[in-house]
Amino acid sequence: MNRKTQLMIIVSVLAVTLISGIVIAITHVGNKNLAAKAASSESTSSDSDFTYISPTLENNSDAESEDTQPTIDKEVTSFVPATEMDLDPTSITVYVNKEHALPKDYKPDNLVTPNIRFDITYFDERTLMRPEASKALEKLFTAAEKAGYNLIGISGYRSFDRQYEIFTNNIATQGKEHTLMYSAVPGTSEHQTGLAIDVSASSLNNKLTDEFADTPEGIWLADNSYKYGFIIRYPKDKAEITGYAYEPWHIRYVGRGLSYYLYNNKLTLDEYYNYKPSSDFDFEALYADIINYVPPTLPPSTTPTMSATPTISATPSLSTKPGKDTTKGNGKNNGGKNTDETDSDDMPDLSVTPVPTPTPEPDEIGGGEPTVTDIPEEGDTGSDTPHTIGVDGNTAITDIIIE
Ligand code: DAL
Ligand code: ZN
Repeated sequence: MNRKTQLMIIVSVLAVTLISGIVIAITHVGNKNLAAKAASSESTSSDSDFTYISPTLENNSDAESEDTQPTIDKEVTSFVPATEMDLDPTSITVYVNKEHALPKDYKPDNLVTPNIRFDITYFDERTLMRPEASKALEKLFTAAEKAGYNLIGISGYRSFDRQYEIFTNNIATQGKEHTLMYSAVPGTSEHQTGLAIDVSASSLNNKLTDEFADTPEGIWLADNSYKYGFIIRYPKDKAEITGYAYEPWHIRYVGRGLSYYLYNNKLTLDEYYNYKPSSDFDFEALYADIINYVPPTLPPSTTPTMSATPTISATPSLSTKPGKDTTKGNGKNNGGKNTDETDSDDMPDLSVTPVPTPTPEPDEIGGGEPTVTDIPEEGDTGSDTPHTIGVDGNTAITDIIIE
């Protein structure tokens, strides 16, 4: 082998070594990049499952934040519409209506009180919600506040028994027609899932009425609640479909995937699940006992003779609790059109024997001058009919009021 040949071999070996080194290095760096990318996409993906970027006022403090859009993340973009009705009480997309009831003893696990402003400052069952809904509600309320709106939580979770009290009180005080449009028979209320809550505004004195829809808070809620996983469950002009009159105050958590879908497609939950009453479903027959509930009558000996005005006989008169703090906003002393009597959680406990009381002072109930003749007869209560007594569900057919 001559010298020239030896030199060529050495150069070739060096070249091959160098090229191999370069290839190995490139591959290594490439793998590292891929790994990093994968890791970062993993963390992005898992973050997006749980992290919601709410509107902030980082750079400004005016109402512009109202328009701030939350990130459209995986929870929203990966949503796939259901192919069948979800009747699992523990599911956040559960369907509850007049036909599809919850088990009587169903109570969600781990109910918590969201860190939001309620109309009461003490603990009550109605401040509870399921954790998922509670977390989302806090974000919703924070966003509302940042946008300049002061929402107030009124009534979240309700047990079956509590719904029974509310429903029967409504039947007794508001009549069947009105009650069936606004109040769920026990077992069929979304409030029992811990996923629904009634919301009002201090500007409306915390009433739950149609008027809420026209308040700045009500408008904001209707426009923005879907961004936080909530829907207006009983929208205007959909009573035929939902089975209930318009309730602009009742929001239901369904998760952000479904809430965006329903909002964008203008669908109710009933339409989404393509609900059609079963041919053998007879609501009034099934719930005949409770729908035709008659409150306990008073023994004649207890008939009060407080004044020359109406004698109280079979139906106990109304009263409000003396010394009641109406500033708390439980809806007392709210005259005028009102529908929350059917949805309020601040109702008399009918399990307690009614006690007759004097006719209330005008300023005790909605500024009206209620008499026993104001008590609506069955079917005498159009949804928008103002009632001069029991206007907000906080006045009672007895003087026993749950606070
Ligand atoms: N107001 C709604 C229908 C309820 O009672 O659950
Ligand atoms: Zn409600």
